[in-house]
Amino acid sequence: MKEIAFFVGVLFQLSILSLTESSGFSIDLIHKDSPLSPFYNSSMTQSDIFINAAFESISRAESFSVNIDQNSDETITIPNKGSYLMAFFVGTVPRGSLAMADTGSDLTWIQCLPCTKCYTQRIPIFDPRKSDTYHLIPCGENSCKKLRRNSCGNIGECRYEVHYASNSSTQGTVAKDTISFKNSYNGRIIKYPNTIFGCGYNNIGVFRPTRAGVFGLGSSKLKFGIDTQTKRIGVVTTPMVSKYPSTFYYLSIENVNINGRMVRPYESPIGNIVIDSGTTTTFLKTSWYKKVEAVVLDAIGHQSVVVKYPIRPYRLCYKHGSITNFPNITLEFFGACIELKLNTLSTFITIYNLTCFAILPAEKISIIGNLMQVFFNIEYDLDK
Ligand SMILES: *[C@@H]1O[C@H](CO)[C@@H](O)[C@H](O)[C@H]1NC(C)=O
Ligand SMILES: *[C@@H]1O[C@H](CO)[C@@H](O)[C@H](O)[C@H]1NC(C)=O
Ligand SMILES: *[C@@H]1O[C@H](CO)[C@@H](O)[C@H](O)[C@H]1NC(C)=O
Ligand SMILES: *[C@@H]1O[C@H](CO)[C@@H](O)[C@H](O)[C@H]1NC(C)=O
Repeated sequence: MKEIAFFVGVLFQLSILSLTESSGFSIDLIHKDSPLSPFYNSSMTQSDIFINAAFESISRAESFSVNIDQNSDETITIPNKGSYLMAFFVGTVPRGSLAMADTGSDLTWIQCLPCTKCYTQRIPIFDPRKSDTYHLIPCGENSCKKLRRNSCGNIGECRYEVHYASNSSTQGTVAKDTISFKNSYNGRIIKYPNTIFGCGYNNIGVFRPTRAGVFGLGSSKLKFGIDTQTKRIGVVTTPMVSKYPSTFYYLSIENVNINGRMVRPYESPIGNIVIDSGTTTTFLKTSWYKKVEAVVLDAIGHQSVVVKYPIRPYRLCYKHGSITNFPNITLEFFGACIELKLNTLSTFITIYNLTCFAILPAEKISIIGNLMQVFFNIEYDLDK
């Protein structure tokens, strides 16, 4: 039916490969709840989507916390639950595939024929026997040894195994093939020969479509290589922080500023928040969140009709239309000379007859979700 291959961190590795397009390139992102997506469910309302997205975000945040807690090598990536899809092609002749564009995972694999166990997917399953450019990787190679769970197969091929936090797993061989994308600027196909990925023959678990609907986010773009923005006004830069697990991209927020009132995190700000494309909701650690919530409540004032905990998992809501002055909320990143002003559409959302504060608390981890990223271009400079 509707499942897809997982793409993942390779997106960001690609940017350091030699680029065939000297000026960089751009790929369309499809929100999983948009009509262009195989997950689209026309019977869901915008409110249903926000509620689902929050629950999905919570379970994703919980998986992140498990990874951080365990310090284990096993359950590092999270299947499903990403928010954006991108089209890519595998092999020669290229076969189409859709995958999660996910900055919160780091293994690439797709389902491959012949399957021992595959879940149903709408796009034909990739058959490596039909690709001229497909090659196995010997288990002695470094790229094999670097994998967390690798082993040698019958003919000396590298085998991988990945276990996800949600009791799902995939096993298969590690291979190289050409992966290509369509550059949405000019329609040209960009090829990355010898890209390493997992060919999964035995894929078990919850790799099923999530519920869907119209999100209204439309299509965004993922750009690689040399910067293609002509105007760089109001740019805020902050160092990325290296931290375990290295799968995630950590940033440092020193303050959340609400109408001029600074709400500092209780812990050291260095690397205190993950920026993630696959989580919709933004989370702050509970103690920090509670202070933010109290200040927001105060800033909105008593003339607005507050409704607390009306629809799980949202907490602070108001009767729709009763908020007369939305607070100005800005984020102060470590090392940044100006604050980043958030759009009200990223911090307050409409759910049925309510307007709800879109940020939620999380016990163990703070995450900048994709709703908060919507009005920005975000550049990851991995070289620096
Ligand atoms: C995980 O899988 C095992 C073996 O199939 C099963 O017994 C167990 O109930 C599963 N756990 C969850 C949380 O689904
Ligand atoms: C589509 O959304 C409706 C309403 O939430 C739900 O009842 C239905 O199960 C969904 N369909 C699929 C295929 O997820
Ligand atoms: C919010 O920001 C706008 C534009 O900068 C400003 O005009 C307004 O006074 C600010 N509101 C508050 C409550 O600080
Ligand atoms: C919102 O609608 C529900 C059901 O229609 C109703 O019970 C509730 O009182 C309404 N809430 C507000 C704040 O108007």
